[in-house]
Amino acid sequence: MARSDDLDQQLREHLAFYMELGVSGFSREAAWRDRDDRSHADPAAASVDATVAAVLEATNSIEHGAPAAAPERTTEAAAQLEAIRAEVGPDCARCKLHGLGRRQVVFGVGTPAADLMFVGEAPGADEDVQGEPFVGRAGQLLTKIIEAIDLTRDQVYIANVIKCRPPGNRNPEPDEVATCEPFLFRQVQVIRPRVIVALGSFAAKALLRTSDPISRLRGQVFRYGDALLIPTFHPAYLLRNPGSKREVWEDMKKVRALLAAAASSKG
Ligand code: URA
Repeated sequence: MARSDDLDQQLREHLAFYMELGVSGFSREAAWRDRDDRSHADPAAASVDATVAAVLEATNSIEHGAPAAAPERTTEAAAQLEAIRAEVGPDCARCKLHGLGRRQVVFGVGTPAADLMFVGEAPGADEDVQGEPFVGRAGQLLTKIIEAIDLTRDQVYIANVIKCRPPGNRNPEPDEVATCEPFLFRQVQVIRPRVIVALGSFAAKALLRTSDPISRLRGQVFRYGDALLIPTFHPAYLLRNPGSKREVWEDMKKVRALLAAAASSKG
């Protein structure tokens, strides 16, 4: 395929994806990008906007310390993450998953000083082979979701509650979660993201210490230490229920607004 056809095709796919997410239009004007479009919003979106406004106000009072992108902070965080990775070890046998067919530990990927962190459930078959979270079909959808808010996978950090693939992609069991989640909590402490997106109920429940279902948690913004946490639907759920992409897009717009507010409060 010629290069311009290739670009054309990519653009078509990108636009089709935005439409699926419920994006209503585009403009190159900065003023349009920053517009207040609440007048077009439906009642559900309006209540979400009210939550965001309250959270943005609260965000301004959060102490974040040094800017996350400072090179020395990135180097330090990278070293600390490597220390945690080494402690987990390539042959971790702390829970029964090591004997149930997992190929490798899938630790996490992205920049160590990310402002935005995504937390999923557990590696699937593709992640188990490649050693990187969210690289299969659900992962490709997550990549598009990240790109829809003008970021790349390299600019965020992605990890899971548990680091080894459960056999046949079954749900993680409570003892497996209890054994592995402390490593996720330490990853979050080192990365110090401003916003955490919990993908699906396992991530939301582990981070928020709640038994509430994701359907009740989504649409709300929570505090998680110095970060704000937004629970949303897991990309694998979206593959089965594409109609819910619109709600995830609402959540991602909130994420984008919170990141922008945090960046401007850096001074
Ligand atoms: N689903 C997850 O929760 N995590 C992955 O890494 C892949 C699929």
